[in-house]
Order: sequence, then C-alpha cells, then structure tokens
Amino acid sequence: MKFFVDTAEIDEIRELNELGMVDGVTTNPSLIRKSGRDIIDVTREICDIVSGPVSAEVTATESEQMIAEGKKLAEIADNIAIKVPLTWDGLKACKALSDLGQMVNVTLCFSVNQALLAAKAGATFVSPFIGRLDDINLDGLDLIGDIRLIYDNYGYDTQILAASIRTVNHVTQSALIGADVMTAPPSVIKSLASHPLTDKGLAAFLSDIEQAGQKII
Ligand code: E4P
Repeated sequence: MKFFVDTAEIDEIRELNELGMVDGVTTNPSLIRKSGRDIIDVTREICDIVSGPVSAEVTATESEQMIAEGKKLAEIADNIAIKVPLTWDGLKACKALSDLGQMVNVTLCFSVNQALLAAKAGATFVSPFIGRLDDINLDGLDLIGDIRLIYDNYGYDTQILAASIRTVNHVTQSALIGADVMTAPPSVIKSLASHPLTDKGLAAFLSDIEQAGQKII
C-alpha cells in the first residue's frame, strides 16, 4: 500500500520523506489554511521535496472554472494530481483534465455510486473519507471494502485512496481490504511504530545491559 501524507506542513513532509515513508502528499483548502502559506508557493515547495503525486485541490464549484484552476495547478510541477470534489461539475472537470493526461484525485467520496462515477470519469484516484463517515455513525471501512469489490468486479484501474484516516486501525484495515493508497496525518503515520510490548521489551533490555555493566561504545 502506498503511503501519502495528509498535510501541507513542509517540515513534517521532509522528515517523513527522508525516511522513505512518503509515496505522495495530499492537501486540501483546510490544510492550506492551517499552514498559513500561499497555496501555489507551498504546493511548489512540496513538489520540490516529494517525487510522487501531490494532490492540490481546486476551489471553484463550476466545471469550467475547476478546469482552469486545475490547469494552473498543473503548471506547478509534473507530479501534481488535481483534486476535484465529487459533484457533477467535479466529474466533468475530472473527465476533461484526465483526457488531457493530468492525474486527477476525486475527493469527498462517501458512497459506492460516487466511486463508480469517479472511475467512469477517468479518475486516477478516488478518495473515500473514512473518518467523516465514522463521525456520523456509519462505517467508513465498509465503504472502502465495497469500492474494492466493485472496482475489481469490473476492472476499473482508478486507485482507491483511503482518506480521512484518524487511527492506526484505519490504516491496518485499509491495507487488509486492499486500498491502493492511504493518506494520513503525520501523527498517525508515526503512531504506526508504537507498541506497548516494544516499549516494555526495550526497557528490559536496557536495564539488563546496564546491570551487566556493558556498553558497545
Ligand atoms: C485527503 O485527501 C483529505 O483531504 C483528508 O484525508 C481529510 O481528512 P479529515 O476528514 O480528517 O479532514
């Protein structure tokens, strides 16, 4: 499973990228706002660091304007994936931009039917939002599974990008289900390394070597 990092914070992207943990980046208008940076400037800086797909989201709601914004975002770098919302206009923009050879990430997907439309419109990625479905007492992981089944039934090559990931269990389950990509905040990616038995075992090893009075260096 590919790992995308869901942030526009340059230092966090750089740190994870240096460890080989970053296959791509996703941003959205809320993350841009949180960064306090200009959308074009910060997206360019991210593209200079990461060679994989960097999703940058349009802010227009009408297809022609989305296409114009998408073309402008695509000028930033070759690895831009233009993010459009899963609306009828967004699907029109997806088709037009995909036909031009641009990577497109169709975002804010909350149903299998929406995911089917994204695939038919030529999306490179579809982003089902797990956490936001869980927030309203639905099961976001069920949606990932249903999309996987239906895409496989018909051989759609749109990649399932599990998004709105809040927990390490979301990552585990997305991988077991077969999501192609997951995007998560840096904190969740770092939490994947944690296990209480690792901490307990390490503490015992350190105590034993100290009591043995030994050092390597
Ligand atoms: C990714 O592309 C989405 O923008 C992101 O995962 C949304 O996450 P949130 O629901 O935690 O805001």
